Amino acid sequence: MTSLDQAEVRMSASPKFWDKHAEGYAKRPVSDKAAYQKKLEITRDYFRPDMEVLEFGCGTGSTAIAHAPYVKHILATDISAKMLEIARGKAEAGGVKNVTFSQTAIDDFNPDPESFNAVMGHSILHLVEDCDAVISKVHKMLKPGGLFISSTVCLGDSMKWSWFRFVAPLGRLVGLMPLVRVLSTKNLVDSLTGAGFEIDHQWKPEKGIAVFIVAKKAG
Ligand SMILES: C[S@@+](CC[C@H](N)C(=O)[O-])C[C@H]1O[C@@H](n2cnc3c(N)ncnc32)[C@H](O)[C@@H]1O
Repeated sequence: MTSLDQAEVRMSASPKFWDKHAEGYAKRPVSDKAAYQKKLEITRDYFRPDMEVLEFGCGTGSTAIAHAPYVKHILATDISAKMLEIARGKAEAGGVKNVTFSQTAIDDFNPDPESFNAVMGHSILHLVEDCDAVISKVHKMLKPGGLFISSTVCLGDSMKWSWFRFVAPLGRLVGLMPLVRVLSTKNLVDSLTGAGFEIDHQWKPEKGIAVFIVAKKAG
């Protein structure tokens, strides 16, 4: 049993759903622009020009591209070739040279220990098979004092979403939804601290369902 409060939809991660929705995802405007900007600003306060950064589940690359001027290099990965195709196009159009896009599932990504100064995972921890395993993996790939910066949908925080546990497996079965787990902020924080992180910053926008966390590996 993992420490996370999860509604499980047991199927291996598949890029098909995300390939199909990549163009729509790219066109959809950010739902809360002020909150997104605040997250970018908080993140930038931690970034330094010599940093090697990983972003997994980078989608169409907007966040990696936005942060590119503030770090040395970003390796931006995603399971979906379509998402990455759009991301590469955006980076090229913007003349961004220090972001490398690569297709891989975080589950299969095994870099050398202590490879990165910072790892970002936005809107992704609730979509992976084994969130605890991913958090431990991120901890291992960070240098001492490294940062794990994440924004995670926590439907388990509100009773309003309790119906979702029952609908999610059905939606997944008929191909209308990806694998989605019902996480709660408390159990996400427990998982991060259980893996050895200290919580350096935690913020949930008033109207949002995603918690933004900057977690730090001991230096
Ligand atoms: C909800 S989108 C978030 C995209 C981006 N991070 C953002 O905040 O807009 C989730 C992304 O994670 C990718 N993804 C889903 N499962 C994954 C996995 N196991 N490993 C890597 N990427 C994955 C999807 O292809 C999709 O691009």
